[in-house]
This record gives sequence, C-alpha cells and structure tokens, in this order.
Amino acid sequence: MRTTQNKTLPLVLLFAGSMLFAGRAAAQDVTIPVETQHNAIVLQTDAEKHLNMVYLGTKLANSAEYARISKMYRQADDSGVQNDVYTPSGSASLGEPAITVTHADGNKSLNLVYVNHTVSKVSDDVSLLVVTMKDPVYDFEVKLYYKTYYKEDVTEQWSVIKHNEKGVVTLNKYASANLNLKGNTPGGFWLKQYHGNWAMEVQPEEARLTHGIKTIDSKLGTRANLYEHSMFAISMDKPATEDEGKVLYGALEWSGNFRVDFELDVANNLKIIAGINNAASEYHLKPGVEFTTPAFLYTYSDHGKGDASRKLQSWARQYKIVDGNGSRLTLLNNWESTYFDFNESKLAGLLKDTKKLGVDLFLLDDGWFGNNHPRNGDNAGLGDWQENKQKLPNGISSLVKEAQANGVKFGIWIEPEMVNPASDLYKAHPDWVIKQPNRPEKYFRNQLVLDLANPKVQDFVFGVVDNLFTKNPDLAYIKWDCNAVIYNAYSAYLKKDQSHIYVDYVNGLYNVLKRVRAKYPKVPLMLCSGGGGRVDYGALQYFTEYWPSDNTDPLERVFIQWEYSFFYPAITSSNHVTDWGKQPIKYRVDVAMMGKLGFDIVIGKLSEDELAFCQSALKNYDGLKDAIWHGDQYRLASPWDNDVASIMYVNTDKSKAVMFNYLVNNRYGSGTKVPVRLKGLDPNKKYRVKEINIFPGRGSVLGNDDQTFTGDFLMNVGINPKTNASHTSVVLQLEAI
Ligand code: DGJ
Repeated sequence: MRTTQNKTLPLVLLFAGSMLFAGRAAAQDVTIPVETQHNAIVLQTDAEKHLNMVYLGTKLANSAEYARISKMYRQADDSGVQNDVYTPSGSASLGEPAITVTHADGNKSLNLVYVNHTVSKVSDDVSLLVVTMKDPVYDFEVKLYYKTYYKEDVTEQWSVIKHNEKGVVTLNKYASANLNLKGNTPGGFWLKQYHGNWAMEVQPEEARLTHGIKTIDSKLGTRANLYEHSMFAISMDKPATEDEGKVLYGALEWSGNFRVDFELDVANNLKIIAGINNAASEYHLKPGVEFTTPAFLYTYSDHGKGDASRKLQSWARQYKIVDGNGSRLTLLNNWESTYFDFNESKLAGLLKDTKKLGVDLFLLDDGWFGNNHPRNGDNAGLGDWQENKQKLPNGISSLVKEAQANGVKFGIWIEPEMVNPASDLYKAHPDWVIKQPNRPEKYFRNQLVLDLANPKVQDFVFGVVDNLFTKNPDLAYIKWDCNAVIYNAYSAYLKKDQSHIYVDYVNGLYNVLKRVRAKYPKVPLMLCSGGGGRVDYGALQYFTEYWPSDNTDPLERVFIQWEYSFFYPAITSSNHVTDWGKQPIKYRVDVAMMGKLGFDIVIGKLSEDELAFCQSALKNYDGLKDAIWHGDQYRLASPWDNDVASIMYVNTDKSKAVMFNYLVNNRYGSGTKVPVRLKGLDPNKKYRVKEINIFPGRGSVLGNDDQTFTGDFLMNVGINPKTNASHTSVVLQLEAI
C-alpha cells in the first residue's frame, strides 16, 4: 500500500479531520487512498463522518486528486444512494447492510462513524490499514482491516466487531467486506459466477446485473461449495476478455456457509457485500469479546481476466498455500483401481507398480480402517480409525516400510470430520455428532458430521492425524476428504447458542488444521471434498493442493481445470490420470500434466507402449514442472469458444515454456487451422520448439523443419500445434537457446 500523507503522521489524511481532532470548527473530509502497484481503493468521510468507498480502480497518477472524486458523485448520492464502507442497518443507511445487530437493550439501529485509522508495514510488499468506526450512541465498534499486497495488487479485507454494552449483543449479519463500485460504467456490471454439483464442479455463467439484489450463497455447512462458489468476477462495462477489460475478482476465505450480495442501486452503483452467511446464524457477542470475520480476497485488473488471475495465482503461491514455491509429489492412487477391495498382497503389487511407473508416492485411499464395522463400503466404519485387521494384519507401518523398500513414499486417505452410524465412535459418543435430538437422522453418503464446535471433537480429529504421523513418522502425504453436508444442524455442546453452529464448526476445523500445521508444517495435504466441494483459500492456507473434481474424464477436466485456474495456481490442482472418459492415455496424461500430476489406473492393464509413454511423460514433466508449478499461466484459446483449447505456462525468467493443446470438439474437420499466438515470452529470445509426449511410433506434428523462432514471432504470428482428430492433444515445449 502506498499512501499520500503527511510524513509525520502514520495516518493517511489528505484533508485531516476526524473525531480525533475534535474541537475544530468545521470538520473536513478524511481521504484514505489504499494503493497497490496498479490499483487504488479510496475511502472518504462525508459531512456526517460516515466513511464511504468512493473509488476502486486503476490508481491515479496524481494521488492528490483522490480527494476530489466524491464531488463528482454528490448529486447522485444525495438522491438516496449511499456507499458506506460497511453499511449498518436501522439508521440512515437504507441499502443492503453489511452489519445488522440487536443491541443489549433490544434496539436494532446501528450508526457507524469514522474515528481514526492507522497504516502499518508488515513487509516491503505488505501493508495493513485499520479503520476504526464507532456508534455515537451505543458503545459498539467495528474495525475494518485492509491487508494489501502491493506487487500482486491483492487485498484481503475483514472486520473485527466489539462492544461494551451492558449485556449480550446479537450480530444478525456480519459481513467481511462491503465494496462499492461506482456507476460510471455505461455498459453496466457483468457477474461471472460458478455453480455445480458432484462431478460437475465450477460451471460458469456470466450475465449483466440488473437492479436490485443478486445473491450467491451456501447453506450446506460443510462441503459448502458443492452447489455454488463464493468466488466470482465482476467485469465493468462489458465482460472482460482474457487480455482486455476492467475486472474485479473476489472470493471469501471461508470453508462454510457464505453469502455474497450484489446490489445495483438507482444510480447504477454496485455494492458487493461478502461474508459468512447469516442464515440461521445470529451470533451472540459478550461485552469486550472480539468477533473476527473471515477475509474477503479481491484483486482488480484493467487488463482482463488473464492478468487478474495471474495476480491471484502469484499471491497464492507467495502468501497463502502451504509451500507455494516448493515442490510436490507425483503419485499413484488406488481409489479407482480397487475401491474398497484390497489387501496387503494387492497393495504390495501396487507399490511395485508405483516404482515401475516412476512416480514419487503411493496413496492408499478409503477402506483401510474399521473392525467392528469394517469399511468395505461407504456405509460403515467412518470414525473408527484403526487398521482393518483382515485387510491389513500388519498395519499401516508395514506398508510404509514396504513402500520404502520399493523406493517410493507412502500417503493415506482420511475423512476425520465424519462418522457412520455404523461405527464404534457413533455408539461411544452420540453427543459428538451433529443431529437434532428429536428428529430422524438424515444422511448424506450414509454418514453424519462430527461437531467440531466441541473442543473434545477437535482433539479427536487432531488425534486422527497426529496418531498416524506418530505411529508412522515416514508417512509422507495425507488426502483429507469431506463427503457430507450438515443436515439437522444441532450441537449438544453449544446448548443455548445453537445459531453459532455453522460458524463455530468452521473455526473448530481451522483450529484443528492450525494444530496440524504447527506440528507438521510442510507435509503435503490434499484438500478433497467428495470432489471439489471445499476449494477455498480459508482451507487452502493449510493445504498444499486440492482435488478439483471426481470427474477425471479428461475432456471434462479441460473445462474444470480451466475455470479453477482463474483463482488457483496449477501447483495446487491435483490431476489424476484415470479410466474415466474415452480419450487415449496420451490425452489423459497431457491434461493431467496441466497441474500436479498423479495416476489412478491399473498399471498392469497398460500396454507396453502405454506404459513407456507414461514413463517418458513423467520424465518430460520433471523438466517442465518448474514452469507449470511456479511460472505464469496464459490462456491462449478457450475450450468454450474453440475446437482446440490452448494453455501455456512460462517460467519466471522466460527461458522455458510449455503449450498444451486439446481437441475439445471432435466433429468433422475440427482442429487448429491457423497458428495460435503465444503469450508471456521474451520477444528478443530465440526459442526452440519441440513436441513432447509423443506416443511411441508416431512422428512429431511439427515435422522436420527448423523449429526455432523468436519470442516476437511466436507472440505475433504464433505456431500451429496441428491438433485435430488424428492428434487430439499436442504438447509443445519451448526452450530459449
Ligand atoms: C471422495 C473422493 O473425492 C474420492 O477421490 C475418494 O477419495 C472417495 N471419496 C473415497 O471414499
């Protein structure tokens, strides 16, 4: 954050004046510009000391001009339009509130006026603005936090709510952030949002917002993104394209119920209010206790969706995900090859296959636990995390050793938040289970959710992970699954505070994950939720990667991975080659390479050529993974609009790149007929282009001509990857010479 300010004050006051400076004859506006490398948010007080967001966009060359912005809008604002930085309800602001409260005396009105603000440096790149606002009548305070990442143009915003009233205050709504985008966008605002379901995650829709309120939300409790996502893009004037247009990307860092309201007012201003979903979730706040909302994350670009997504990806690698600049393990998983049906000798074979294939780790999936209620299907055993003696008489530790003897690592699946009614755990601790005391139980995948609001349950869930690592110090990977939503929300632990359950559940989950990370800071953890039902940065700050979808049909995956990539970097995307779909093994491997590569197939069923292909693709991947995991991603041709989807990754010094091309429309004559222009290269460098991942016995689509071009040529003329019905996927590697 860079600010224009009086050097002697830590505050950013273009025109100083606040309750801090009470006693001055005429209060002057306080203007707070929050700047990052390319962007600015400007907050400003009005005559009544309400703090408004008067600007969000490209930063101005002359920051002294920020103070003049609101004058351009006064007329419109006087007509009843408000742009409070955190809209209270029940007093003078009449738009959709960011906060609604019931005071200790039962009164429901809240007025928030600016008190002061501070700016502090967290590092060269990161700054923190804290704005304090208070109700002049009630002893009630809201602090707004803006953590800005200068180089990445990213802001995380949250609020901390506190009071000193004589009794408990009920928070009826408590958003994380309230943005206001001004209506000087003749083409309106365009919302790109995501919906989905199991095996069909992140389906995009984009439409112009009309007047009134559009809400996207979740009330599922756990697995909160199953049907809708809090992540969205707002384009201004017209839908931004990959390289052009003004676009704001936002997402809530929260793994539970969320709610994002988009309110278009009479002057065409757009108010965005994002936070925990307040449905059935009033929060009772005692005097002196702070309530901290999760962060709402956003970035803005005036260079289109591609630029915005690279900012988010780079921010995530730098600051959010575990080991974002580090390495990842390639793996062989057994879910689709065995399901619940395995034993030690079958696994011994799979460990050998892991080595033969050439990946780093074997991942044992669901089905290894439960004795009184053996986990031989999805209807029993969850909660009983002891090795099943019939399948694994020698336990996990012998498998870890056997893996080591084969020269590979060993990882394991758990779903520690859940319980099957058919389990010892359910019988021993019925009060640990979320269920209504007086209603019939309702199951999702035959299971119920444990009550993580209860600290004893948190200890139990932490213990599941801790015991595994304590007993098996060489365990190298955990896949953490979550397959049920919360029905019949009721916590025996919370007693009279039942409306806290959704919030306290997620905070309980985060407590557990914090403890796991404190003890095991770097061990790779995959965030899975019956597919991609829980992909968000609230959870991902504890994980190294996520599982985008159980749908591993590579044709579907091109679309799914494409959409996730607007928010999450490739290093976090676990992509497994499976038997889903009708595509040849080459296509399946080529698609899975666009992220963190894994396999979930029966190696013994591969032909000699197929196995040789996979082995050599893994070697190619080894040479390219730095560009894919840590480089910049460029979307060249969208699968939604073209026969062939093209995506590329360029490493940080632009010396190496890879271009993936996939036929997504296999009708007669489909394919790349013209060159595809590359992006992100150094125009002055010369690149040798080579097709890789060539199936044994086939020649390169590029033929024998000299394939050395300048970056200039490749970015202005392009190259034809000749992807068509005979070559349904083509991978080109570029190396600077
Ligand atoms: C759902 C996950 O998405 C799958 O990958 C697999 O782990 C199953 N659960 C196991 O029950």
